Amino acid sequence: MINRYTVVGQPIAHSLSPVVHQLFGELTQRKICYTRTESTPETLSQTIESLKSQGYKGCNVTSPFKPQAVEVCDKLSREARLAGSVNTIHMRKDGTMVGHTTDGKGLVVDIVSNKRHTVRDKRVLVMGAGGASRGVMQALLEQQPATLHVANRTAEKAIELIGIFREFGEITASGYADLSTLEGFDIVINATTLGMSGQMPELPSQLLNPEALAYDMTYVKQDTPFMLWAKDRGAQTSNGLGMLVEQAAEAFLVWEDVRPKTRMVYPRLREMLV
Ligand code: ATR
Repeated sequence: MINRYTVVGQPIAHSLSPVVHQLFGELTQRKICYTRTESTPETLSQTIESLKSQGYKGCNVTSPFKPQAVEVCDKLSREARLAGSVNTIHMRKDGTMVGHTTDGKGLVVDIVSNKRHTVRDKRVLVMGAGGASRGVMQALLEQQPATLHVANRTAEKAIELIGIFREFGEITASGYADLSTLEGFDIVINATTLGMSGQMPELPSQLLNPEALAYDMTYVKQDTPFMLWAKDRGAQTSNGLGMLVEQAAEAFLVWEDVRPKTRMVYPRLREMLV
């Protein structure tokens, strides 16, 4: 029997998820079929219910539907509830739909296992306080960084965000202007939507430690302005391709009970980036 999956988003034509999951299927010798599904905010609930009634075993949910997908699920993992975000839905045999978020785990696996930067006891800065940022807060804090600071154009949103995650560790917030009083971050993550439009927030140079990792969640072939800025200051840089692959591996694990060896899929995906 072939297990069917899809990724739901708007737009969805350029999603790499089908390629990633088909490769995972080959690597784990599972028979799967993984497609793309376009939806709209008005029809998201019907789209997902219809997938379930067609016998799909699950779906991924991507921009802009991750927060809305929370409402569609019957049950949520604790991570998904706190993140207010679902990127993986498991359609179980008993008819229930369980929502998970694997973005945070995917980011941490990429930083720690692939990029070989520890988060524990390090100073971490996340720029942005939208859905992408909220989705990775818990996973970052569980690594027990020395501090996790969230900076956002709208400071109030960052302050509101950290209120949700205080129980998990040392977390602070500010607007960008206040970053001039901070320094020496070991990991700086761009979780704003600015990377996509070729921009970056204005940042003071002293933010980065000499061995810092500058991580942009956007995945495009070219270095983003944030990555170029960090490279100029001697930092190691990464785009979000690894996060995409590792969150997909976590989703595959939810559905198929096996975590694919992701190393094999990177060369193929790098060729496909635009
Ligand atoms: P996502 O789900 O991708 O995180 P989002 O929830 O709309 O998208 O969040 C977008 C993030 O990018 C926010 O942190 C936003 O800052 P504000 O909360 O102040 O709006 C940030 N962002 C978008 N455009 C920006 C800009 N021109 N300058 C700085 N930050 C920007």
